[in-house]
Amino acid sequence: MAEIVIVPDDQVAGELAAEAILRRLIDEPEPVLGLATGSTPTSTYHAMVRRAAGQDWLKNLKAFALDEYVGLPDGHPESYAEVLRREFIEPMGLVPAQVMLPPGGLDGLSTAAAQYEAAIADAGGIDVQILGIGTDGHIGFNEPGSSLASRTRVKTLAESTRRDNARFFSSLDEVPVHCITQGLGTVLDSRHLILLAFGAHKADAIAAAVEGPVSASLPASVVQLHPHVTVLVDEPAAAKFKHGDYYRFAYANKFEWQRL
Ligand code: F6R
Repeated sequence: MAEIVIVPDDQVAGELAAEAILRRLIDEPEPVLGLATGSTPTSTYHAMVRRAAGQDWLKNLKAFALDEYVGLPDGHPESYAEVLRREFIEPMGLVPAQVMLPPGGLDGLSTAAAQYEAAIADAGGIDVQILGIGTDGHIGFNEPGSSLASRTRVKTLAESTRRDNARFFSSLDEVPVHCITQGLGTVLDSRHLILLAFGAHKADAIAAAVEGPVSASLPASVVQLHPHVTVLVDEPAAAKFKHGDYYRFAYANKFEWQRL
């Protein structure tokens, strides 16, 4: 089962996630981190920057983004390449070549996904993958109906995801229709998954992901098949858990060596 940790707010979650990520990566000769975008990982990235920006070992870090919009012009401020440059790459003191994203340009799109999979494999796989969850239960941009064994590929965004993400654009029409995303099978290959969910609007999705049936209809439920998952949620996002009391009790009674 996943370890589920209910915390007061996203700041506490960000500190815990950053501590666990850095502790894991710092000991790897060739550390590989998986990056999510959107609002959810912001507190984690800020905490990572506060704790580790510019440290020498980061020179060996490689990172792979989960997903990217398809068809946005190069340098579009809401492309995930730009968001990660602003929020993670530059503040951490990394050089852009250390962080790869699935390419969202229309040229070469039909072969880009396989090349991205090969690049992750060449790097030795992902040590820690940060995940957010969509209100429809997606992780990466694996919308409901995605194969639980899927690999990186081009997908069509769900209308609800386009509406959720319209807040980053000036209108719904500007939100791309297509994306390129690591698949659920790709995500499962990462060695540690850290899934974050904040806010009451995520409560149904995160409860279904960790307590509901494993189903392509709720793509995040695939994390139940992974042996090492940490789920960090704030109180509003935890509101729909059936076993919330147990998660709190288990976390309060951990041994010191059982840190995240
Ligand atoms: C983005 C990603 C998505 C988001 C999800 C939640 O890279 O992987 O699955 O994590 O759409 O988005 P926010 O965090 O903006 O609520």
